[in-house]
Amino acid sequence: MRSPIPDFLDETLDRHRSDRSGANADYIPDLASADPEKLGICISTLDGIEYTSGDSDFEFSIQSMSKPFIYGMVLEQEGIAAVIDQVGVEPSGEAFNELSLDKKSGKPLNPMINAGAMVVHALLGEPGVSLAERIEIVRAGLSEFAGRELRVDDSVAEGEWGEAYRNVAIANMLRSYGVYTDQPDEVVQGYIAQCSILITTRDLGIMAATLAAGGVNPLSGRQVLSPRVNRQVLGVMMTCGMYDAAGDWMTEVGVPAKSGVSGGVFGVMPGQVGIATFSPRLDKHGTSVRGANIFRTLSRELSLHIM
Ligand code: DON
Repeated sequence: MRSPIPDFLDETLDRHRSDRSGANADYIPDLASADPEKLGICISTLDGIEYTSGDSDFEFSIQSMSKPFIYGMVLEQEGIAAVIDQVGVEPSGEAFNELSLDKKSGKPLNPMINAGAMVVHALLGEPGVSLAERIEIVRAGLSEFAGRELRVDDSVAEGEWGEAYRNVAIANMLRSYGVYTDQPDEVVQGYIAQCSILITTRDLGIMAATLAAGGVNPLSGRQVLSPRVNRQVLGVMMTCGMYDAAGDWMTEVGVPAKSGVSGGVFGVMPGQVGIATFSPRLDKHGTSVRGANIFRTLSRELSLHIM
């Protein structure tokens, strides 16, 4: 007998399919021209059973959804205390691309906003690592979370670099405040390559399930993050993952989550499942409209709220 879960997922997508509100991200050419009708979902269990519906094998760039995973990698590399010394864990209440630094400490408020994500990115690898080497560390690391070899989409990266005035400004601000001594343009190029890695909704479901399983990838069985680092990542996602909508999201949906401007959203139910959705049209926070609404529906109907 067919499990009722795929039918439920088909029905859930159908209920949200006709919503055409929001708009594709416009500042990255490949995202602006992406098919806005694409719609996919994947729920992955901790033992790697994937329930999917819609365009779950369609590839899109990971964008800001890379941030929690790269944060986890850097926490493993440097230790939690050393990273907190450089990037805080407090919600900023600001948009993801604010030129934002904590006034007292002079460090980025958290690793989910771009300022913090760029500092985290710049910590990755041995001192003196080249740009190409760091991009390879990012690609290989994200592949561990997905359980398959991922690749950078150079066209997405080149398109974003052509419009990266805001991120270049943030990277220069970080350097001018002495947060790092890296070349700002290189930090942005590496961060953009990180954002341009291609995943499917199915990959994202497995990546979410890895965080739900205390850092163990359900496909490979590998411990990608230690339980303590995994907890740190989820704590930061819960409070900062949805930027200036984090409070609304946690009270209403109640699932630690992260969005990206390509239209992906993933949520983590610790000890239970990873959930991923994809739909390119975004709201004013840079979060997929249909993705967020599907999460609202799932939270209500499957009682996902962690409270
Ligand atoms: O920093 C940027 O502009 C992008 N490459 C990633 C931003 C993003 O996905 C924000 N999340 N919703």
